[in-house]
Amino acid sequence: MDIAVIGAGYVGLVTGVCLSDLGNQVTCIDINEEKVAMLKRGESPIYEEGLTELLQKNIQRGNLDFTTQYREGLANKRVIYIAVDTPQLEDGSANLTYINKATASIAEHLDHDAIIVTKSTVPMGTNEYIKERMESLLTHDITIKIASNPEFLRQGSAVYDTFNGDRIVIGSDDEEAMRVLTEINEGFNLPIVQTDLRSAEMIKYASNAFLATKISFINEIANLSEKTGANIQHVAKGMGMDKRIGSAFLNAGIGYGGSCFPKDTNALLSIGEQVNYSMPILKNTVYTNERQKGIIVDKMLERFDSLEGKKIAILGVAFKPNTDDMREAPSILITKRLLEEGANLRAYDPVATVNAKTILSEEIEFTTSVDEAVKGADVAVILTEWEDIKHYPLEKYKQHLSHPILFDGRNCFTVDEVKGQGVEYHSIGRPTIQA
Ligand code: UDX
Repeated sequence: MDIAVIGAGYVGLVTGVCLSDLGNQVTCIDINEEKVAMLKRGESPIYEEGLTELLQKNIQRGNLDFTTQYREGLANKRVIYIAVDTPQLEDGSANLTYINKATASIAEHLDHDAIIVTKSTVPMGTNEYIKERMESLLTHDITIKIASNPEFLRQGSAVYDTFNGDRIVIGSDDEEAMRVLTEINEGFNLPIVQTDLRSAEMIKYASNAFLATKISFINEIANLSEKTGANIQHVAKGMGMDKRIGSAFLNAGIGYGGSCFPKDTNALLSIGEQVNYSMPILKNTVYTNERQKGIIVDKMLERFDSLEGKKIAILGVAFKPNTDDMREAPSILITKRLLEEGANLRAYDPVATVNAKTILSEEIEFTTSVDEAVKGADVAVILTEWEDIKHYPLEKYKQHLSHPILFDGRNCFTVDEVKGQGVEYHSIGRPTIQA
């Protein structure tokens, strides 16, 4: 199948590369010249496991190319995926500026019948709007059909998720579009859900909102466990073994961040407002998450009279491991509060340092290893469960910290592992262990 993908960002690039690996002829169109030049050389502008290998392999075998030119990129393409960003506007709703730009550019240059597929996360009704708008702007007498094919990719495992996801959702009110999209996606060999446009759009929002709610729920139970003497790790295990609940996304911590959950929960709330429907559960998911981000600072303030002048080692700043993404990372609020309390911060993150420096306060000193961050600090705080942070030996905290006190926002150690190690250990939803 001849396919064009508009937008070589995180979703577009992974989608384009994986579709080319299935044997399709794919051209990715992006207006960023520098990015396109890099991609043509086989270099990926983002780090995703396995992506560079597939990128180079498919460029070499002639299945994949890149361009900044719509006319050239759309030539002979039967299917055109739109995979541009839909960031959050100030009122929480989705910003459709890039969708509108892509729609106008396709309409201007497309000179043959095609199927337009939306990968981007968009509010219910947007696909119909894209079709109407594109039809009104077309410069040739051609027919376009439309389908929604939302992505469910996690950063850091996006290539794996593309080939191993739980399902593929295809929404269309057009028979031919549904048939062609099904044919393309059969290559992934995953269960396919066929539905209408608006339900496909809703599935994406509802899935992310549900997962975010699951996290906020377990965080609430964690806080209550702490106050009532239960251990959230045991509670989550016991709950998760019930297949109706499932064990995934039951890890209590300092709240969710990233480019999807915060944005999509707010967008869904805003969609509700537009149709005069309030969603108290989702509202509280967002509220609980904001509160959860500050919980580790509250714990520290409870433990010490004051944080003024305390040297604190911050371990991990990315919103989750295996990504350099700092968007909505809990570390943003936590480091801000700690600095306001007068603490001195020395931070370590294996890959997010460059991005973190553009977002976090200049007052934070960055180091290149856990050791360096911990040496000479008074206490340490884990904010991201990177492998090297998870496996940093407890005895080293004892050796290097002036007071062997560890605040673990990601429950990296079990309570039993910490007992008797000479480290005072505060975590989320579990009893505190004294040194
Ligand atoms: C998410 C969805 O998983 C994906 O399907 C969607 O397309 C995009 O958003 P991503 O943001 O990459 O993916 O990360 P994910 O692994 O889902 O984690 C999101 C956040 O939730 C992270 O901050 C993570 O630390 C937190 N989280 C996750 C928890 O606090 N507890 C959990 O049990 C799971």
